[in-house]
Amino acid sequence: MTSNSPIAIVGGRGKTGRRVDVLLKVKGCTTRPLSRSTIPAFDWDWPEGWAEALEGASAAYVTFQSDLAVPGAAEAIAELGRLAQEKGLERIVLLSGRGEPGAERAEEALKGCGVAWTIVRASWFNQNFSESFLRESIVAGEVALPAGEVREPFVDANEIAEVAVAALTDEGHANRLYELTGPRALTFAEAVEGISRELGRPIRYTQLSLQAFRAGLEEMAVPAEMIALLEQLFTETLDGRNSGLTRGVEEALGRPPRDFAEYVRTAAADGAWSMPR
Ligand SMILES: NC(=O)c1ccc[n+]([C@@H]2O[C@H](COP(=O)([O-])OP(=O)(O)OC[C@H]3O[C@@H](n4cnc5c(N)ncnc54)[C@H](OP(=O)(O)O)[C@@H]3O)[C@@H](O)[C@H]2O)c1
Repeated sequence: MTSNSPIAIVGGRGKTGRRVDVLLKVKGCTTRPLSRSTIPAFDWDWPEGWAEALEGASAAYVTFQSDLAVPGAAEAIAELGRLAQEKGLERIVLLSGRGEPGAERAEEALKGCGVAWTIVRASWFNQNFSESFLRESIVAGEVALPAGEVREPFVDANEIAEVAVAALTDEGHANRLYELTGPRALTFAEAVEGISRELGRPIRYTQLSLQAFRAGLEEMAVPAEMIALLEQLFTETLDGRNSGLTRGVEEALGRPPRDFAEYVRTAAADGAWSMPR
């Protein structure tokens, strides 16, 4: 391995991975974004390809698909960690989620692999509203979810990437867990209202029963595995256990996290909700 050895980014075109890629390049690092569509390819469902994907890398940023809460995630992270150790990687940074027992099992698996680790345990991303499954609903003017009055301290994917890059390139982050939240916990209705106000057009938040939510997903032919995951998210992860604020961004970056309103202003100015994509 040389000082020019690439940093592997598993999920390199994802919401956090592509931001990590940009920030690493700005710092002069060589990167190797990885996913099913890269060469070499990395597919969480095809472990036979993982060794080649990690070959010669100095470190890795790892985002798991579909979610660390799904069965088998901890075993997959343990195997990736074992390979990373075998291939001589010096650091692994794992993106994790708050309040998920499955994710905590995966974190433990990483800690045992013998490579210096950093865990970035994040709350719900702001960017779920602009770069993921809620974007279409925002554009259509109605967000219908079974989220109730629960408050979530949405965090910005840019800040997750900044923390990951600090952990990959600076000293002092080895074997640490950063739990990242934004500075304010909002209900989903309040978050949607904030976006509506910024865009100057009505966007309704409608509270759905879990049954109605499931029926809607089935009608849209969403795969059963994804429906189960979303149901788990709205019943377990969003039961209030994650509403508390943390100081993770400050601990890792030495400054407080940005407010949801700042994310909304920037995303709106960038045209995140202006056209169907
Ligand atoms: N969204 C949230 O609010 C939130 C909060 C906390 C934690 N998380 C965790 O964040 C992780 C996802 O990270 P992210 O949001 O940065 O990524 P993302 O945006 O979900 O990443 C999408 C990329 O993953 C790749 N991908 C899909 N299936 C794959 C597979 N089987 N093997 C390899 N790559 C695959 C796809 O690229 P290709 O099509 O090229 O393969 C796609 O571009 C999940 O583990 C989730 O639990 C999310």
